Amino acid sequence: MSNTKLKIALLVGGSSPEREVSKESSNSIAKAIKNLGHELVLIDPAYGSNQPVEEEKYFAKENYSEVKTENYVSALNSSLLSNVDLVFLGLHGKYGEDGTVQSLLELRGLKYTGSKILSSAMAMDKSMSKIMFQHFDVATPKWFVVYYKEINYNLIKEKIKKFFGFPCVIKPNDQGSTVGLTICRGESEVEESVKLALQFSNKVMVEKYIPGREVTVGVLGQQPLPVLEIVPKHGLYDYESKYTDGMSEYIVPAEIPAKVSQHLQQQALLAFNSVECSNYARVDFRLTNDYINYCLEVNTLPGMTSHSLIPKMAKAIGISFDELIDKIIKYELNG
Ligand SMILES: Nc1ncnc2c1ncn2[C@@H]1O[C@H](COP(=O)(O)OP(=O)(O)O)[C@@H](O)[C@H]1O
Ligand SMILES: [Mg+2]
Repeated sequence: MSNTKLKIALLVGGSSPEREVSKESSNSIAKAIKNLGHELVLIDPAYGSNQPVEEEKYFAKENYSEVKTENYVSALNSSLLSNVDLVFLGLHGKYGEDGTVQSLLELRGLKYTGSKILSSAMAMDKSMSKIMFQHFDVATPKWFVVYYKEINYNLIKEKIKKFFGFPCVIKPNDQGSTVGLTICRGESEVEESVKLALQFSNKVMVEKYIPGREVTVGVLGQQPLPVLEIVPKHGLYDYESKYTDGMSEYIVPAEIPAKVSQHLQQQALLAFNSVECSNYARVDFRLTNDYINYCLEVNTLPGMTSHSLIPKMAKAIGISFDELIDKIIKYELNG
């Protein structure tokens, strides 16, 4: 599969609420990098100069060092990154998926996997992404944003009633993994839902609720992968359903008409390009029962455990996990 032996640094963990998910993804990515015959250097940026991270101990234990965002600069300035051919980003969420780490890597002149600075920052900001989606004709649910400095609950309730009504979705503008998200069923729940979302972000998104199914499409290079449907066993596709085995059922390719599937793939590629993604990403949609699709967001560093969604989509077209990691590496080095 792979040929030239490379030295690849895998950035793992980090300080975001998705730290544990990142460790899971990275455990799988680390194995693939080694299976491909490359040299692996593990770096947890939240540990600062307390590196290198020893693989076995790291994945077996919780934290053996302090997890701090301030540590990123010293970690990424470390000599461990001196002779690497490529940095593989195994991080998820804030300070990893949002362009900050990407900018430190660019300042060091290092090549890294996934989307670049502007794209990562745009995609992490759900409202900014939706502005781009609208500009490029990617259908997305109606929404508005409220800032922590100008919270007026009566005004929010009025706007909801005027623009789309209840139920609506209230979520932090820049978090992942369904953290801080509420399906708000009526006026009496608005204040509590906004307060919850504000615990995670200064910017809160209020969005029209789209009933129907949950589908997602990965993009690799400029190739959309097969549409995958997620069927959560209880109502919402939340953190628990996402990361607990058996809490969701995954159907890939999704059992939908071929035309709908092709349209979703086109919309996914358009969404990917509208926020200028590169290499790979996963685009989340809602699909109504009459097959109208609405794009929710683009994940520029989607889950990469062997049972994550992109690996499942790749598998459906005969691409193994190791091959997928190989393609991501080669895309970055050879274009
Ligand atoms: N407008 C919406 N209508 C219906 N369900 C939604 C809507 N927004 C979010 N959800 C549900 O919440 C989940 C997480 O929302 P999403 O916007 O993708 O944020 P996250 O970054 O947390 O994944 C979605 O996968 C979907 O199940
Ligand atoms: Mg999502």
